[in-house]
Amino acid sequence: MNTATTPPRKTLQPLWLRAVHWINVLAVLVMILSGWRIYNASPIFSFSFPGEYTLGGWLGGAILWHFAAMWVLVLNGLLYLGMNLGTGRMRQRFFPLSLGGMIRDMVDALRGKLSHGDLSQYNQVQRVAYLLALADLVLLVLSGLAVWKPVQLSWITTLLGGFQGARTVHFVAMALLVAFIVVHVLMVVLVPRTLRIMIIGR
Ligand code: HEM
Repeated sequence: MNTATTPPRKTLQPLWLRAVHWINVLAVLVMILSGWRIYNASPIFSFSFPGEYTLGGWLGGAILWHFAAMWVLVLNGLLYLGMNLGTGRMRQRFFPLSLGGMIRDMVDALRGKLSHGDLSQYNQVQRVAYLLALADLVLLVLSGLAVWKPVQLSWITTLLGGFQGARTVHFVAMALLVAFIVVHVLMVVLVPRTLRIMIIGR
């Protein structure tokens, strides 16, 4: 009997990671769109977001969406960190990091010469971008807590420059996350195989 079979294709993104990634996408979108409606009720800068790109209909509705998605974002984020650290995936996927490697990969990417042959590894630019996005999400949650509970969590509010300071930090962190999402989705469009892997794992 011929026992030779095609080797099973390796799972590049485990099921738990794919699940938390897509839940995170949903939670982040709800947070951003409802956040824009909340911002419109008392803008920090001299502009507002067009109503059709916001969620919640009015301030009260937007706050309900924002708080509902906040729990999903935080619990899902804790699950992501716990699983990533617990399984050793964090170390394997995001480290080692080096400034030289990052500059080299950045130059290669700009010259269109970055290899996408091995999708089981993130390149140095991806590693830094994902780690910064994760740090930005943590900052968003912390500054959100500072604005939500400025009395009970006054130490965070004070650390972020008071209530108005925390609002500005929250806004800037949101803007950075939106910039990350735009570049991130562009990269996925350039290398669509990664999307397939993020959906079915292989
Ligand atoms: C909405 C906010 C989003 C955030 C905060 C986010 C964040 C991340 C992070 C941190 C990773 C690395 C995860 C890890 O390996 O542990 C990742 C990977 C990935 N994301 Fe997103 N993402 C977002 C939206 C999206 C969207 C809308 C798409 C699809 C169009 C997408 C497609 C992917 C793909 C394909 C990968 C794997 C990349 C690769 O293997 O090269 N993401 N994302």
